[in-house]
Amino acid sequence: MDKQSTGTLSSLRTVEWKNNKVVMIDQTKLPNDFVLVEYDDFNQVADAIRTLVVRGAPAIGVSGAFGLALAVLQSKATTKDELLSDLENAKNILFETRPTAVNLGWGLEKIMNVAKSGETIEQIKELVISTAKKMADEDIEINKTMGKNGSVLFDDNDTIMTHCNAGALATVAYGTALGVIRATKESGKNVKVIATETRPIQQGSRLTAFELKHDGFDVSLIPDTAVGYSMANGLVNKVVVGADRIVKTGHVFNKIGTYQVATMAKQHGIPFYVAAPLSTIDMKTKAEDVIIEMRKGSEVTGIGDKKTAPDDIDVINPAFDMTPPDLISGIITEKGVATAPFEESISKLFEAN
Ligand code: MRU
Repeated sequence: MDKQSTGTLSSLRTVEWKNNKVVMIDQTKLPNDFVLVEYDDFNQVADAIRTLVVRGAPAIGVSGAFGLALAVLQSKATTKDELLSDLENAKNILFETRPTAVNLGWGLEKIMNVAKSGETIEQIKELVISTAKKMADEDIEINKTMGKNGSVLFDDNDTIMTHCNAGALATVAYGTALGVIRATKESGKNVKVIATETRPIQQGSRLTAFELKHDGFDVSLIPDTAVGYSMANGLVNKVVVGADRIVKTGHVFNKIGTYQVATMAKQHGIPFYVAAPLSTIDMKTKAEDVIIEMRKGSEVTGIGDKKTAPDDIDVINPAFDMTPPDLISGIITEKGVATAPFEESISKLFEAN
């Protein structure tokens, strides 16, 4: 792999603001090539989110905010109203890229509110850019606090299963679920990790296995179909995953297959934790109203360029699923760990804010 090999992946930023441009690690190229891409147009950021150059709920939240920071620089508006209307247009384009992770809408709304509070064009530009940069910095701090809060739930010599990639690559740095694993290791405990491959587009093998191996973790990769085997044969003590959206009842929306992992963990009496910042918790939407992104069939009918299914086969390819609260042992956040009954414990997290 051709990359800068200094430091851990966690010390690099998945997405950042540099010289009035947005710089991202192109995650579609990993693990074979380490490529940084640079954008100066919010439409390019929207494309990057849509095509998974950047992915993972917190990372797309911050990318959306940086997209609006580009939009203020691109705007030729001469009045506040014109600038806000340009921003609204950019917000809608960015928002429509992916429907399930609530962090995208959260990041965009936060920037729009800040923009509305500015008086002059110059002030709005300054406010939007500085707020987006602050959101990126805060993401790392939040992940580190969340990691510490979660690390007490894990013991020396645990083998922890994770699904998809909720690591440094899914955030600005450090990670949510993998942040908890990093903090557990940093607290002096010895842990091993089992990463699921995460078909169809293999965030587990391409990103999690790569990220953890690169950063010196003891990690093994399994096909998704070996989750039951691993649990039934005592290879796993605990599970931690990330989330794209958590609703107030504690229903967790995360990468397709999470529900299967959680169900299997329950069957084998293995604690199943979810790690996510408060920005992933959506107190307004009901579980049944959350939109599950459906992705193109070609992700399932082939692996890379190789075709693995007959021509013209019908495909069902949901990108996310819902894990009900009765399968969840705890939701780890930067404000503490919520446990059942979740409706009560989740609202307490916001009171502590
Ligand atoms: O389709 P993706 O790769 O964006 O899906 C990502 C996930 O499902 C992650 O588990 C989730 O966003 C949490 S990331 C900290």
